[in-house]
Amino acid sequence: MAVSEDWGSLSDPDVIEARDVYYNIGIRPLPKDRYAQEQWNMAQLHTCVMNRLEGVYKNATHIAPHDFHNYWAVAYDAVHFLHEHHETEEGHYFPYFDGGNLMIANENQHAEFAEPILETLAYLDSVNPSKPEAQPFFASKFRASVDRWLVTAAKHMAAELGTLDAEHLKRSGVTVHDMDTAKEDVGKHTMSTQVLKYSLPAIMAAVPRDFDFPRELPWWGKFILTPMLAYCFGYGRMKYYWNAKRWEKTAPNPPS
Ligand SMILES: [Fe+2]
Ligand SMILES: [Fe+2]
Repeated sequence: MAVSEDWGSLSDPDVIEARDVYYNIGIRPLPKDRYAQEQWNMAQLHTCVMNRLEGVYKNATHIAPHDFHNYWAVAYDAVHFLHEHHETEEGHYFPYFDGGNLMIANENQHAEFAEPILETLAYLDSVNPSKPEAQPFFASKFRASVDRWLVTAAKHMAAELGTLDAEHLKRSGVTVHDMDTAKEDVGKHTMSTQVLKYSLPAIMAAVPRDFDFPRELPWWGKFILTPMLAYCFGYGRMKYYWNAKRWEKTAPNPPS
């Protein structure tokens, strides 16, 4: 009988509860209220962030020997995605909400896990298989590093959704123009910093099947462009199965 693995911080009740918060908001249909769309969109993104992390955390002990370079790329991107998400919020999103004052508590929460996340990235960098001086990778070390910040980060992402609650935004005097300008700034920044041929397949692989995300991406982007990019540029070993409408990937979530 297979011995079930310890999923560390992923099994923490606070992490499970926080992920339920994002998922249960993100799974709703697109809200008609522009204010409610703000929280809905963020909930979907937070769900994808955690799905990517879950995939690489759980698969750290299930890497085929010849496949480590793929696993490494997926793992590094998954952790970096979380780091980049919060950097983008601080530079290009929060400032539009009452000059940043509305999100000040959430921005302070970022500081609680920013350093430990960078330490995880530094660990992954030390085992980067494309470097001649790369050290051997240990799943236990990687997971212990993630365990140092995952609970705090997961709880923060739920708290942020509380700040973005539609009624709270309205009471706080946030305007539709504020939200639209923030969205535009985030969009421009993302397009200028992400390498689309890699980042689009990576994010799409983490989207739950019933989510309408990213909403701006047309059907052909989801079902033609994304699989083409994954196929042509080989992000990990991802392949798209048309009949099942699902991805097979190096770091699946949940792991098979
Ligand atoms: Fe955040
Ligand atoms: Fe966020």
